Amino acid sequence: MKVNEDRFLKDLHDLREFGAAGVGKGVVRPAFSKDDVAARKWLATRMSEAGLTPHVDPVGNLFGLADGPSLLLGSHSDSQPEGGWLDGALGVIAALEVARASHEASGPKVSVVSFEDEEGRFGVTTGSAVWSGQLPLEEADELTDHAGVTFSAARACFAEMAGDFVDPTRFSGFIEMHIEQGPVLDTANEQIGVVSDIVGIRDMRITCDGQQNHAGTTPMHLRQDAFQALSAFNTAINTRFRNVVTPTTVWTIGHVTLHPNASSIVPGRATFSMQWRDAEVDRLDRLNTIIRETASEIAEKTGLRVRFGPMLGLDPVAMDMRLRTALEQAAKATAPEKWRVMPSGALHDATNVARLMPVAMLFVPSINGISHAFEEDTAEPDLVAGLHVLARAVSNLT
Ligand code: GLV
Ligand code: MN
Ligand code: MN
Repeated sequence: MKVNEDRFLKDLHDLREFGAAGVGKGVVRPAFSKDDVAARKWLATRMSEAGLTPHVDPVGNLFGLADGPSLLLGSHSDSQPEGGWLDGALGVIAALEVARASHEASGPKVSVVSFEDEEGRFGVTTGSAVWSGQLPLEEADELTDHAGVTFSAARACFAEMAGDFVDPTRFSGFIEMHIEQGPVLDTANEQIGVVSDIVGIRDMRITCDGQQNHAGTTPMHLRQDAFQALSAFNTAINTRFRNVVTPTTVWTIGHVTLHPNASSIVPGRATFSMQWRDAEVDRLDRLNTIIRETASEIAEKTGLRVRFGPMLGLDPVAMDMRLRTALEQAAKATAPEKWRVMPSGALHDATNVARLMPVAMLFVPSINGISHAFEEDTAEPDLVAGLHVLARAVSNLT
């Protein structure tokens, strides 16, 4: 098969037009937004032209199906609330190009997928989590975004075009190409990362209820200030985590809502996201215990009440050795001395798909290690190198 670099790059830039925003090549295309739906319709047309049958499932995952048994390639095409043009999109468009080139050359059968809500507007990799059975659809339907919209209401936008869930047994395996989203390859001036395993994640919403009151008349010692509780919680976990974490453990409070969020009102409620990631389930569990105990202690000491939302999470997974070896051989041939085996600190749909079939992943560098930001980018020769590694691996496998 002969992949067409120009056609691949053009499709990648065309996809960015849906939700193009911000500086550089930024994108705002959250799951189920107008731009996300329009991008999926555009992708479905590209799939048809590539000889694939487009199929949308009940949660908005878009497949381009080859006839009969096939290898599945792809990623996601939704974005963070402020995202880059390559996160997910790269893996989808590289998959499209490999499937198209293979179809033209009567090569191995390749299907393509763009999973929905990988970026977790509602959950954590919601579309692939439901498809894989990691998350029951009824539970997913109850999830809400930060504005209170339910997953069930959001996915209704696909109701007219959606068919059933795709039978996963038609696929022999799944390969996801992605940007690294960290500094390792860029710093080392390397082109390709072959993923060894993907870290695990836990994520939940925590709410502190205090007493809303006047910011001028309420003495400090009588306040039940929900923001002060959140601030104390953050300081306390940074200290208490110290004896448990490793240099690769990460944790983030990334979304905070204060109620009613006004300068002259002691906040009565703070709701915030608490997310933590690590390569070991045992450590994820120990951090969970610290989080709950710390929040409860602080609430008790200050007379506030604390509530924990549903805890979402995915365990760490290792990549399949046969698929990984095919990627390693392809990397060796395409980018000799400029590739490595490395773990993924970011989360990917591949984690869920591993419940259904063998999976593997490859990375290309992120300039300055930046992602989940408008500035996210990758040098063109690296994008193209990744495409060739993916195509070579597919050829090696069949
Ligand atoms: C996926 O986007 C992640 O948050 O790792
Ligand atoms: Mn991604
Ligand atoms: Mn992402």
